[in-house]
Amino acid sequence: MPDRDNGSDATLPRLPGQFRGLSTGDLVADRYRLVRVLGRGGMGEVWEAHHAALDRRVALKLVHVDAAPMRARLLHEARLLASLRHPAIVAVHDAGVTADGIAYLAMDILVGESLATRLERARLEVPIAVALFIELLDGLAAAHAAGIVHRDIKPDNIVLVDRAGQLAPTLIDFGIAVPLVGDGVAPDRAGTPQYMAPEQLRGLACDARTDVWATCVSLYEAVTGRAPFMGPDLATTASNVLDAPLAYPTDVEALDGKLWAILTRGLRKDPADRTASAAELRQALAAWLARRTNPPAPPAPPAVPEPRNDPAPDVFQALIKRKLTEV
Ligand SMILES: Nc1ncnc2c1ncn2[C@@H]1O[C@H](COP(=O)(O)OP(=O)(O)O)[C@@H](O)[C@H]1O
Ligand SMILES: [Mg+2]
Repeated sequence: MPDRDNGSDATLPRLPGQFRGLSTGDLVADRYRLVRVLGRGGMGEVWEAHHAALDRRVALKLVHVDAAPMRARLLHEARLLASLRHPAIVAVHDAGVTADGIAYLAMDILVGESLATRLERARLEVPIAVALFIELLDGLAAAHAAGIVHRDIKPDNIVLVDRAGQLAPTLIDFGIAVPLVGDGVAPDRAGTPQYMAPEQLRGLACDARTDVWATCVSLYEAVTGRAPFMGPDLATTASNVLDAPLAYPTDVEALDGKLWAILTRGLRKDPADRTASAAELRQALAAWLARRTNPPAPPAPPAVPEPRNDPAPDVFQALIKRKLTEV
């Protein structure tokens, strides 16, 4: 990510005990030449690497043998990603463990910046945010249809890329994703509290509605500049997620009653009361955006236009691109 991870290793915190000896120019798994660090997260490092035989740049996520459970997690992430193919989900190419015990996952390199990095500069205009989240929800609905719940949707894990001249969101980091089959209870409670749904914080079963919650938190943050449930420390944040009522952000223009109703439904504490699926949330946002783009002609009769199938028409794409590049 150019802004946060500009290739200067010195700006990135070093994780003790990991990646000893790995540096620019090294060859991983006999084929990936390391170029520069793109980012670091809880699992390890993501490098830009060059595959010489194919003359192709890839992003290589690496976990060192020192962290054995993390290594298993990375291979699990690779298998889940391999079962998905969608423009809004990062594509995986290869995975394995080197002779030195380093687990690696090779994927498309995303040239852009995370939504989190983007939001450090300024919040998004509401229709632009909604258009981006509609595209993201397309990918999320595809993951759910394939039986996978992501469990870690947040602005850090959404990368805004330039795809054929149009700005598009791409979902990364399926590191704590779980299959929807079974009881949906994950072996750990990993996650970031301000984005975690109440049931996830409680260690209960997670399903598509858990991702609906985190998507609505992220959309709320995209338009207000802050997550809806925050606190001075993790424990207070978690207790606010569980118990605090959702507060209407009075300082956001264009957050009208209909959009507020959509967010409110997506952020119901009890999953039974919440928007049931990513597809349903996407449909609601698409209908909202279509109404804004083509408001029904007053006065009433003629029929109210059907919600459009393509909620992010070219005019919005052009607007998104202009707005996001001019800040
Ligand atoms: N495919 C990619 N292309 C470019 N940068 C990436 C890619 N995947 C991850 N990154 C960068 O590496 C960081 C950590 O990756 P992520 O998969 O989120 O790891 P973790 O599971 O440790 O959080 C991301 O926040 C992003 O900056
Ligand atoms: Mg991450």
